[in-house]
Amino acid sequence: MARLLGVSLLVAGLGCALLVAPSESAADDVSALLAFKKAIFEDPLAKLSDWNSKDENPCGWTGVGCSPFDSRVVTLELANSSLKGFLALEIESLSSLQKLILDHNTLMGPIPKGIGKLRNLIMLNLSTNQLDGPIPIEIGDMPKISKIDLRANRLDGAIPPEIGNLTSLTELQLSNNSLTGTIPGSNDSSMKELK
Ligand SMILES: *[C@@H]1O[C@H](CO)[C@@H](O)[C@H](O)[C@H]1NC(C)=O
Ligand SMILES: *[C@@H]1O[C@H](CO)[C@@H](O)[C@H](O)[C@H]1NC(C)=O
Ligand SMILES: *[C@@H]1O[C@H](CO)[C@@H](O)[C@H](O)[C@H]1NC(C)=O
Ligand SMILES: *[C@@H]1O[C@H](CO)[C@@H](O)[C@H](O)[C@H]1NC(C)=O
Ligand SMILES: *[C@@H]1O[C@H](CO)[C@@H](O)[C@H](O)[C@H]1NC(C)=O
Repeated sequence: MARLLGVSLLVAGLGCALLVAPSESAADDVSALLAFKKAIFEDPLAKLSDWNSKDENPCGWTGVGCSPFDSRVVTLELANSSLKGFLALEIESLSSLQKLILDHNTLMGPIPKGIGKLRNLIMLNLSTNQLDGPIPIEIGDMPKISKIDLRANRLDGAIPPEIGNLTSLTELQLSNNSLTGTIPGSNDSSMKELK
């Protein structure tokens, strides 16, 4: 019995180390990233030129970081990269994503509601873009989020009270938009409010 267990553990260990075929979720990451690329219509610095649809492993793509354990995408970091375009709805499928850092680009249009599906997101930095429309209330669905920076966009509407549900939040930057209302919990001295 013990021996059998030992063998199966060994096999499981090898399975991990030699895993070549991406799991279904890692494949979802690839299609989400390709959708992200497709929604960017100007990339003068060719940052996304190595994002190749024939490549099943996105972990070496510019701006993409993966978990060493399961090869899921955990960071998408393309700040100040002269990207012009929209935020693809499909980014919601990057379910292991921890950092989404796209500040100082020319991203336009709305922040997709599906952002709330990024349950592992810790840092969201979309500052200094041209994002418009309201902050989706789904932003209140990200239990691990610690920093949100949406400064210097064209966001309007009311600041969603759902932000008050984010118990891990330590920094919220919303200045230089056309937002109305107050920041929920902003009287909490642990929360920085720079309006
Ligand atoms: C953006 O990149 C340019 C060119 O590399 C650099 O000069 C500039 O300081 C950067 N801006 C920010 C905000 O990082
Ligand atoms: C977002 O990015 C800008 C520019 O790199 C940086 O100054 C700012 O501190 C970032 N925001 C957060 C919350 O880390
Ligand atoms: C906010 O707007 C003011 C006035 O237009 C500008 O001076 C400042 O640099 C902006 N801040 C950011 C973070 O873009
Ligand atoms: C989130 O916040 C909203 C508005 O403050 C509240 O109505 C809702 O019940 C909260 N949801 C959870 C899951 O805490
Ligand atoms: C914020 O909290 C302090 C200390 O608890 C209190 O004196 C103050 O009235 C509160 N301000 C608001 C706007 O609630």
